[in-house]
Parts: sequence; C-alpha cells; structure tokens
Amino acid sequence: MSILSSKLKQKLATPLKIGNFEVKSRVLQSPLSGVTDLVFRRLVRRYAPESMMYTEMVNATGLHYVKQLPKIMEIDPNERPISIQLFDCRPDFLAEAAEMAVKEGADTIDINMGCPVNKITKNGGGSSLLRQPELAEEIVSKVRKAVPVPVTVKTRIGWSNQEINILEFAKRMEDAGTQMLTLHCRTRAQGYNGPARWEWVGKVKEILSIPVIANGDIFSVDAAIRCLEETDADGVMCSRGTLGYPFLVGEVDYFFKNGVEKEPPTVIEKLECAKDHLQALWEYKGDRGIRQARKHMTWYAKGFPGAGELRSKLATVDTVEQGCNLIDGVIESLT
Ligand SMILES: Cc1cc2nc3c(=O)[nH]c(=O)nc-3n(C[C@H](O)[C@H](O)[C@H](O)COP(=O)(O)O)c2cc1C
Repeated sequence: MSILSSKLKQKLATPLKIGNFEVKSRVLQSPLSGVTDLVFRRLVRRYAPESMMYTEMVNATGLHYVKQLPKIMEIDPNERPISIQLFDCRPDFLAEAAEMAVKEGADTIDINMGCPVNKITKNGGGSSLLRQPELAEEIVSKVRKAVPVPVTVKTRIGWSNQEINILEFAKRMEDAGTQMLTLHCRTRAQGYNGPARWEWVGKVKEILSIPVIANGDIFSVDAAIRCLEETDADGVMCSRGTLGYPFLVGEVDYFFKNGVEKEPPTVIEKLECAKDHLQALWEYKGDRGIRQARKHMTWYAKGFPGAGELRSKLATVDTVEQGCNLIDGVIESLT
C-alpha cells in the first residue's frame, strides 16, 4: 500500500493547469489507436469522470482532402475534459484540422510526435518529428495561432539510444508554444519494449515550466505513485494497462483523491463490463463494431478459471448475443 509524501499530496490537491484550462484529475487516459473511441472513453469515464481523455490519433492530411469528420474524431457533447489528437507533418493541414477539432468540441489539441509506426514516420509524422525540431516548432506555433484552446505535444525521449534529444526538443516545444508535454519514456527504436525510463521525465521537469505528464508502464496505482514521487511529474497517463481494464484510470484517480485504494472490480464485474462494451460497440458501429470488439473481449477474458477457452471463443464472435451468451455461461459457472 503506497503512502503519499506531503509534497505529492499537495500537488494532487490542486488541479492540473493546461494553459487556461483546468483538469481536476492528475491521471489521464492515453490516446490508443483502435481503442479509445467514444465507447471506450465512456466506460473509462464511469470510473474517472474528471480525467482527461484523448481520441485516437487523426490524420490531418486525410481531413484536409476529405473535409468530413471521421468517426474517430467524434466526441460526445457531454464528455469533458477531452482532447483530440492529430498527427501529420504539414503545419497548415494540422492548423486546419485543429480548427475542425475545436468545432467538434475539443478542450485541447494534442499533436502526436511519438508514434513509431513506419507508415507514419516515413511520411514525416509521429516520432520522426523528433528528428525535425524546426518543423515540429513550426507545427506548434501554427496550430497555436489557429485555435483558442491549449495545444499539447505527446512525444518520446528520442529516436534511438544514440539519439536521445528530449531535453533540447522539449525546451524547443515549450518555446514554440506547447502548453503541456506528455513523455512516453521510451525511444522510437524501443517501440513498446523494455522498461519505461521515467528518469527522463525528472530531467525534463527540471528545465520546463509547462506541465509534464509521465507515460509508460503505469499499470497500477502503485506504479502511478512511484512514478510521481520519482519524477516530480505533474500527472501520469495510463495506456496499455487500460486494455480490457477500463477501471485503471478510475482506480488511480480514486487513490490520488482519497489516499486509499478503491476495491478492485470482481471477475464478474469485469465480465459485465465486457458485455456492456460489446453491446455499445455494436450500437455505435454495427458489424464493424463487433469485429473491433473481438480484441477487447479477449483482453477482458483473463485471470479466472476457463479464461483461455473463453478468450479463444470470443475472438471469433459475430453477434452481441453470441458474445453475451458465452460470457454469461462463464459468469454462471463462477457463481
Ligand atoms: C494499441 C496502441 C495504440 C496506440 N495509439 C496511440 C495513439 O493513437 N496516439 C498516441 O499518442 N499514442 C498511441 N499509443 C501509445 C500509448 O499512448 C502510450 O504512449 C504507450 O503505450 C506507452 O504507455 P504504456 O507503457 O503504459 O503502454 C498506442 C499504443 C498502443 C499499444
């Protein structure tokens, strides 16, 4: 059981200030492509109503040519606080996309400068911007000029071990007008492997005045506290720990606000949540939603007798009824 230092308690008692926008929670739900759609965010918000959440990353060039709001950019008028994340390397397209995002209701605009995927970096977006700091600066300053809401950046510590340039890069982003920086504490070359190097957050914190959010390996309340104590970060962002577990951000938020741990969900509560997720994806996206739900269902089916068998069956469901019947069968066997 973690104990909070008095310095940390004080920080947690004050809102996170992103430019002129205040967030009443210091744990954030990360953007996750293929995951953090409106349905997933609604589930996370059940338990963490005050946390900042992010859409999946949206391609600004796509928006420029299609001029139509993609489904991944839709936000619920009642969901707050919410950031729309954009990726691209074209400052003008990003500025235009940011304007559309604000019309849709985004409280902040986040620019992705951390995605490691080849398809994105080859086109000059995501983490390849770490190697083009002038362009990254131009992006931030153009987007800032285009929108009245705060502009933030999510990035990594560098391209590779030989090119760790986050200290210089972060300072340049702040000087260009970035109002919060989220640091995924790995290099691009690491992908998602190896432990997150939180020590870089501490180093970045020493030289920036804007809020710095630590990201990478926040899989538990304990990790969230340890990370804040070790790095002096202004908040933490949960990512893979929320796959099949939309309770995590709420658990961390609860501890941050109350200093005691929230009772974790039972296996049955987790499975009931999986059913809600499946049903909501179907209502929101139809058959495509069911296909997307398969991976979510397999993430929920973990850590109880019969989980392996349920997982393989859920991986091929075609209807809500089929999925719910399979899950109900397991719930019955557990009660
Ligand atoms: C499936 C998946 C999709 C992701 N999509 C995005 C994205 O759209 N935008 C982004 O900034 N990061 C994205 N990330 C990176 C995460 O937000 C986060 O930075 C990373 O997973 C590190 O945190 P973790 O170690 O807690 O998982 C994605 C990661 C995964 C695993």
